Amino acid sequence: MKRTHHCAQLTKADLGADVALAGWVDSIRDHGGIIFIDLRDRKGITQVKFDPQDDANLGARAAQLKPESVIAITGKVVERPAGTVNASLPTGEVEVNATALEVLNASDTPPFPLDDAGGDKVNEDLRLTYRYLDLRRPKMRKNLRVRHTATKAIRDYFDSQEFIEVETPALFKSTPEGAREYLVPSRIHPGEFYALSQSPQQFKQILMVAGVEKYFQIARCFRDEDLRADRQMEFTQVDVEASFVTREDIYALFEGMLKKVWKDVLNVDIATPFLRLPFHDAMNRFGVDKPDMRFALELQDFTELFKTSAFKVFASTATGGGAIKALNAKGLADVTQGELKALEDAAKSLGAKGLAFIKVEGGEWKSPIVKFFSDAEKAELTAKLNIEDGDIIFFAAAEWERACTILGRVRLDAAQLLVKRGKLTLRPDDWKFLWVVDFPLMSYDEERGGYAATHHPFTAPVTEDTALLDSDPKAVRGQHYDVVLNGMELGGGSIRIHQPALQKKVFEDVLKIPADVVESRFGYMLKAFTYGAPPHGGIAFGLDRMVALLCGTTSIRDVIAFPKTQKGQDLMAQSPTPVTAKQLKELHIQTVVPVEE
Ligand code: AMO
Ligand code: AMP
Repeated sequence: MKRTHHCAQLTKADLGADVALAGWVDSIRDHGGIIFIDLRDRKGITQVKFDPQDDANLGARAAQLKPESVIAITGKVVERPAGTVNASLPTGEVEVNATALEVLNASDTPPFPLDDAGGDKVNEDLRLTYRYLDLRRPKMRKNLRVRHTATKAIRDYFDSQEFIEVETPALFKSTPEGAREYLVPSRIHPGEFYALSQSPQQFKQILMVAGVEKYFQIARCFRDEDLRADRQMEFTQVDVEASFVTREDIYALFEGMLKKVWKDVLNVDIATPFLRLPFHDAMNRFGVDKPDMRFALELQDFTELFKTSAFKVFASTATGGGAIKALNAKGLADVTQGELKALEDAAKSLGAKGLAFIKVEGGEWKSPIVKFFSDAEKAELTAKLNIEDGDIIFFAAAEWERACTILGRVRLDAAQLLVKRGKLTLRPDDWKFLWVVDFPLMSYDEERGGYAATHHPFTAPVTEDTALLDSDPKAVRGQHYDVVLNGMELGGGSIRIHQPALQKKVFEDVLKIPADVVESRFGYMLKAFTYGAPPHGGIAFGLDRMVALLCGTTSIRDVIAFPKTQKGQDLMAQSPTPVTAKQLKELHIQTVVPVEE
């Protein structure tokens, strides 16, 4: 039986036609001996009817079918009787009166229901073990399709902008991107290893030296990180680099790409240009470098106010170089003891000494610390935080970045509590894009007692700050930018250093990497830069994260066909696995874990 139509195709225009369909038994119903099968293929569903009055043998065979079996049928397209039309299906006005049935493969009973609602309720490990069944669910099929459409839109867009896609190696050497790496032993070079590429960063810069000028790649990247909902060990970047560009060019290029993706996938027009927020403002106002701008609950600064306060905890922090930040969680005075404890625990996990608060109920400020506040302090708090009945104010007193980070976390958690109470709405399709800019080029690592690149060591300093590299590296702003959507970092990039002397200075004088290490790790790059490296810059975008947001899910596992679990396992094929002693010997590897012969 050769398929003549797919299962979303037949309408009243086909009445009387003889057709052949093939697919999976989505459901099977017995109405007084007449068997109705919803036949499903990748396009949709058609109802097939087996009437024992037409063919008793055929009806009996159909009655034996089990869901998810693969069948082919032939039959005639007929109109459904009045009252049985299904308006929710494109094929809902017709059905096929079966004349033949071929069972191509019977199915065992699936271990979980394959409809969206049923599948959503089961444990994710079970879904991942039987991923081929999970991917049959409408929602997962849609996610794969959205990913395809988004990827195609991206390729078309960069092609239209005259970028070319170039593949770069997955087998590379150690890179300083920050994450732990996967090592791959070399069989022909005993004791030596490749590292799986964390990103094509160095190759794309070399491609600029090679004169490619406009490069992009949908690139697989590997990072041995602790896995979370928005992190996989293996993920995909939309990676871009261009020569003779400024930050503004990259912003416009990527805003154009996102505009096209949102239009092609969701038919939504997103507004450009995006808001630009300096890192310092993002921290000060939202307590995080990837703010969710769908709601306010902004942090306020009271460092000056509390310098002379009678509340010693605040006064000593304020005069000792720290900051006092506060936020008004509007309408959350009805917070429960348990919720308050959870907020405090979260704050403490970020290094807070406590989480002072004021509840405002019945016109009264309820708090153990209020007795220390002067009238002037109360007046300024009321004015700046717009304090009203039903509010709760949270405070953090600490070093500036820590105080911001603590309240940034409280802001997000408080928003969730307000959502739970119906006092705040956060729509996943309320698209609030922004660029976070002007990051510090270097961050001071207390533990190591030295500077580390905030993003990576190839980022160029803002030109007018370059002179400060020697005297005050902390004060140097980098030409780095992140694009953020609804609290998720979608991508980041920078204008790069293209002068070999400046790059060497950053490695050796600022990051204090010994000259011989610089030579062995980056010597080839520094050398390449001496042969006419053009000024260049670029960005990389998390494709998985973008598709997850487009699909309205918070987990990138839902938009990756075969993801790993939080524990880094593939539950379906079952990896990782031990290997044989012979394999290890060939790779010149000895492990401390005994292996089976
Ligand atoms: P960065 O390390 O910021 O930059 O990565 C860019 C984007 O990749 C996504 N991403 C991830 N997605 C899923 N799982 C992960 N483990 C993961 N890690 C990162 C994020 C992130 O914003 N070479 C530089 C870019 C450049 O400078 O051009 C880089 O890789 O969405
Ligand atoms: P104490 O006087 O130490 O008992 O603190 C009074 C209140 O202030 C308690 O609710 C503490 O949780 C809170 N608190 C203490 N230190 C800080 C701080 N650094 N930032 C914010 N709140 C604090």
